[in-house]
Amino acid sequence: MDNLLSKIEAQLPPEVVGLLRTAGEMAQREGQRLYLVGGVVRDLLLGRPNLDLDLVVQGDAPRLARLLAKASGEKPVVHSQFGTGKFRHGSLSIDVATARSETYPRPGALPVVTPATIEDDLLRRDFTINAMAIDLGVASFGQLLDPCGGRSDLEQRLIRILHDGSFVDDATRILRALRYEQRLRFRLEERTEKLLCQHATMLDTISGDRIRHELELNLMEDHPERVLRRAVELGVLQAIHPSLRGNGWLAQRFQHARQLGPPDPALYLLLLVYHLGDDDLEEVALRLNVSGQVRRSMRQVQRLRQALDALTEPDLPRSGIHRLLKAYSPAAVTACALACDSPVTRSRLMLYLDELRHVKPCLDGDDLKRLGLQPGPPLGRMLQALLRAKLDGKVSSRKEEEALVRQRLRHN
Ligand code: CTP
Repeated sequence: MDNLLSKIEAQLPPEVVGLLRTAGEMAQREGQRLYLVGGVVRDLLLGRPNLDLDLVVQGDAPRLARLLAKASGEKPVVHSQFGTGKFRHGSLSIDVATARSETYPRPGALPVVTPATIEDDLLRRDFTINAMAIDLGVASFGQLLDPCGGRSDLEQRLIRILHDGSFVDDATRILRALRYEQRLRFRLEERTEKLLCQHATMLDTISGDRIRHELELNLMEDHPERVLRRAVELGVLQAIHPSLRGNGWLAQRFQHARQLGPPDPALYLLLLVYHLGDDDLEEVALRLNVSGQVRRSMRQVQRLRQALDALTEPDLPRSGIHRLLKAYSPAAVTACALACDSPVTRSRLMLYLDELRHVKPCLDGDDLKRLGLQPGPPLGRMLQALLRAKLDGKVSSRKEEEALVRQRLRHN
């Protein structure tokens, strides 16, 4: 059996190694066996940083989580009905779960779980590379448990499911497979790829919230365009909704989005639905059960896309650009700036985002009242006139704004 002690000590900070040792000892005193599992084991073997600690105990996870939290001077969060617990240790958040096996009463349903051995717990998982554990027992600290050949698949850079029914049991694994494949630059093992394509329609068994969650996780990857391109290649995106595309156009827009600012999954989602017609957009929003706010942003993007022609007018003043765009959220304007093909339109959208939307007159409503305006619509119109004048460079100081107000009052 492989011992990963040297990898653990080389890659994890000493206080994390100390915590794992203490946790293992504590479990052993309780007559329980404790393991580090899942993504952190995979990443340890790959030499990728990961401090997302998932522990599995053959025993009573809520009780162990309470003991460990107490030792760290923290309060645990315990879900006795699920046999899980969570606690903090400094900046880390550590999950503890009771080893369990799972059966799926029907495709896509949440599994029925029963307490089980660590081997059973590994066998219920998604891919071989995620189905490894490290023993934290005192004498066996660092021993690798690898019942499915995960280490060999890591070496061969393969994503492989554990059994033929895996995607049918839980079709979210389809999106997870693509995420790992692209993140790690691995390949889907041949049979896994075949079954993934064959079972893509099983995504229909997954609720909108779960599909959206997985899609959002994919959009949080460093290169989500790669995941989407692959999803189209394998018929996965079409299985979510036939109108969705993940082509070169989208890839280019995602890359530009990252040049404009930090990666933003919400913006990627708006770009993904940019070209959709009304009906398709509503269907996608419904399928993903997006929040009211996201749905409003999607609709805004669509409305603005249809109104972009007005922004190409040759002598459009800055106040005109402002007037055309002020009803739209910055997210919608950003999405259209990234997506539109006309350089003039794009530069005007960017001008609005970077500059025009922040412009405010120096005078406010109270100043206008002092200058003799009554509260009500005329005062509102005066503020608008001041904003237009400022945007178009006709006034550039408080004094000039006051002069403009007086002049307009004289003419009325
Ligand atoms: N898992 C699974 N099937 C799922 C979701 C999760 O088998 N549908 C298992 C995998 O063993 C996975 C572990 O639960 O490694 C933890 O899940 P998650 O935190 O989503 O994945 P990580 O492997 O930690 O991956 P990431 O690096 O993306 O967080």
